[in-house]
Amino acid sequence: MAQADTTKKIHIEQGSVQETLIIPLYGRKLCAEVFPRLYNDTSAAELCARLDYDFSELDGNANSTFWRFGALEAAMRQLDMEWEIKDYLTLHPHAAVVNMGCGLDQTPRRCDNGTCLMYNVDMPDIIEARAGLLPEVDREHNIACDLNDFRWMDEVDGSGGAIFFAAGVFHYFTAAQVQAIVCALADRFGSCRIVFDTIGKLGRFLMRKTFKSFGMENYDECLCVEDVSELRSWCPGAIVSARGYMLGYYDMDDPAVTGLHRFLARLGDRRVKMQIIRMDISG
Ligand SMILES: C[S@@+](CC[C@H](N)C(=O)[O-])C[C@H]1O[C@@H](n2cnc3c(N)ncnc32)[C@H](O)[C@@H]1O
Repeated sequence: MAQADTTKKIHIEQGSVQETLIIPLYGRKLCAEVFPRLYNDTSAAELCARLDYDFSELDGNANSTFWRFGALEAAMRQLDMEWEIKDYLTLHPHAAVVNMGCGLDQTPRRCDNGTCLMYNVDMPDIIEARAGLLPEVDREHNIACDLNDFRWMDEVDGSGGAIFFAAGVFHYFTAAQVQAIVCALADRFGSCRIVFDTIGKLGRFLMRKTFKSFGMENYDECLCVEDVSELRSWCPGAIVSARGYMLGYYDMDDPAVTGLHRFLARLGDRRVKMQIIRMDISG
């Protein structure tokens, strides 16, 4: 197994779409510091320390209620994805667990049952940075590819089943792009589970400045889901369901979670339509 060079700092370019991985990573670091009963993964803090990136603005906001809520969002999403992966692996212990738009997220490793295969897919520069920080472990494979270029799917061995998940990624894709990925996965893998988070129209409107800062002027084309039944026509036969992103899996049990955080979580799930979508496809 390759050893990471723990002295080398990895540079992340400001203003790039790839920079989007910093926010959830920093959020998970902050969450482990502030809400340790809810979320105790310290790996994000270790990774942040190894990045050549100016965290001063994020550090300056770390005490704000709203930034802490943002940290909760990053952590809850990871816990939700873990729930879905572990659930799938109970029935398919040799499955491929595929992290689409992985950034520096290590969710598959956290779900490793000793027999599954783990795949991390992202753009080449991110995979290069990842390889320097997190060398592949046993049964883990990094794939440097644009998710819209379906050649990455050729590298996934789904013979033992497959669960594909995207955390904080499909907001930046058009609905047509996400539909094309989902249909291609269904065609190629037959039986599989696909899990991703979405926001509704209000959420997309609230995120418009973020989209624009990443050069997406046509943010109104980005995927948003008001009602999960909209996705049923994508794959005939798929069982499509949704749960609240903030409170649909866990009740955010931590003494540091304030009443305002809970209020924002309910608002997020109900009004902003923050959801975790699950599509169970049978071949
Ligand atoms: C908000 S970050 C989320 C990272 C990770 N999923 C997490 O939860 O920490 C979005 C990630 O999607 C990746 N991404 C965006 N567009 C992509 C594309 N077309 N193909 C592959 N990866 C993409 C970015 O490089 C980035 O790592």
